[in-house]
Amino acid sequence: MYVDGEVITEHVSEIIKKHSNPTDYIEETRAFLYDMLDPTPDRGDMLYRYEHSIRVAENGKMLAKAEGLPKEPLVMACLLHDVGYRESDRFGGFSIHHLVSADIAKAYLDAIGYDEKYRDEMVIGISRHNATDNIPEDMSVFQMSIRDCDDLDRFDIIRISMALGSCIHEKTNVEIIESCQKAIDLANWYKTLKRGTKTADELFKALCDKRISLLQEIIDQANKGFNY
Ligand SMILES: [Fe+2]
Ligand SMILES: [Fe+2]
Repeated sequence: MYVDGEVITEHVSEIIKKHSNPTDYIEETRAFLYDMLDPTPDRGDMLYRYEHSIRVAENGKMLAKAEGLPKEPLVMACLLHDVGYRESDRFGGFSIHHLVSADIAKAYLDAIGYDEKYRDEMVIGISRHNATDNIPEDMSVFQMSIRDCDDLDRFDIIRISMALGSCIHEKTNVEIIESCQKAIDLANWYKTLKRGTKTADELFKALCDKRISLLQEIIDQANKGFNY
């Protein structure tokens, strides 16, 4: 277990049990994720998390095809990478969600009797999915691909729009320029991070470049505000 504490509560066990006889591993994992995140009306953030996870899984499909990685385990690991988001509230919140997710994923994969050859790689990859410049030396291409699929969604147009919005909302020109420059610096730093595959590296860098060029356009517009 990665987390010191009771991650697999009775509530979690019940959900695992409900999904422990899959006929289709990917579809059951999607349904399991939905039940674990439990996006009730008061938790719109969990619906966002669920939809994000579906998009990450789509990235997994694409990357598996492009790079010859095992598709089903990669897609399942992508679906499960944030599975502990809601449960991590009990352990201080978001900052530990990768570890809570790894523990829940392990219990689920054990319960469905998933191929051991992949299970450990999936669980370790989930536990490391928010690694940035601190990539463990023994992190495999498969493990890195889970994190790369997550990052590809985190830097795609939906998240670009969210980042742009928070850089400009009700800000003065000076503040806009400052926050956009900070976001550009961050995107440039992200571009330097090691990726598991050439496909992920190229796609990720292209998304960073798109983000940087839009941020630069905003800076250029804000600069016009000093001409009078
Ligand atoms: Fe995450
Ligand atoms: Fe994520």
